[in-house]
Amino acid sequence: MSVTPAAAPGAAPDVAGRVPHHVAIVMDGNGRWARQRLLPRVAGHRAGMETLRRVIGWSVQRGVRVLTVFAFSSENWNRPQDEVGAILRLMVQALMDEVPRLDEAGVRLHVPGSREGLPSALVDGIAEAERRTAGNDRLMLNVCFNYGGRWDIVQAAQALAARGEPITESSLSATLALAHVPDPDLVIRTGGEQRISNFLLWQIAYSELFFTDRLWPAFDEAEYDRALAAYAQRQRRFGRTPEQVQASRVA
Ligand code: IPE
Ligand code: IPE
Ligand code: MG
Repeated sequence: MSVTPAAAPGAAPDVAGRVPHHVAIVMDGNGRWARQRLLPRVAGHRAGMETLRRVIGWSVQRGVRVLTVFAFSSENWNRPQDEVGAILRLMVQALMDEVPRLDEAGVRLHVPGSREGLPSALVDGIAEAERRTAGNDRLMLNVCFNYGGRWDIVQAAQALAARGEPITESSLSATLALAHVPDPDLVIRTGGEQRISNFLLWQIAYSELFFTDRLWPAFDEAEYDRALAAYAQRQRRFGRTPEQVQASRVA
């Protein structure tokens, strides 16, 4: 017997049945948020961490199964050394503070990205967090750190070449850092910029995009629901005609 499940608490009323399986977020605007408050940029990164904690909870409540966030890009090494150092330390601290809570909530953590240049405390912390949460399946959380879409494609191509395997769409997809999850359905970027900044390149071929001016530390539940509602209104065609999509939905 199948029953229609009641809407999850807090679910946006108009997204019933059309919740994205995989949401990816470019968490941008921490620095500007801090500057507006005459605070150092690192205060913005700290506040951004709080936002991420809340977004994880809202995602679970709404039935999102995979959440992928961009925390530190390959190009962010070009920032002033003290900001880079502060971000690396924040990440080590966040792993120590948050992993027990994530584990308890049934969240599985994965950190896609290069380990090159990361301090050993961070490399070890990531490995331990991934190991500890490996059995969880309530939400798959990917925190892309020292990640770049170009790095990802190159490392996958190099791995296939080293193994002497043919490079095809499916073999490359299966070797990327996000091979363990389907492609994102919805990509959200906060902070007002309408660009990808070397986030997932291969995987967003058919993702729906949502840009908001809201700075990441100020991203709230209502804005998240606006993004989910916008997604629910989109018709994903994957190259087909609207009529074909309509017909396949009825069938
Ligand atoms: C995003 O916020 C966090 C990282 C890139 C690490 P920013 O630090 O880029 O904030 P803005 O864009 O300067 O406001
Ligand atoms: C993208 O933000 C990277 C992260 C959010 C981690 P940036 O602030 O680095 O992007 P650009 O430089 O404005 O394109
Ligand atoms: Mg930025």
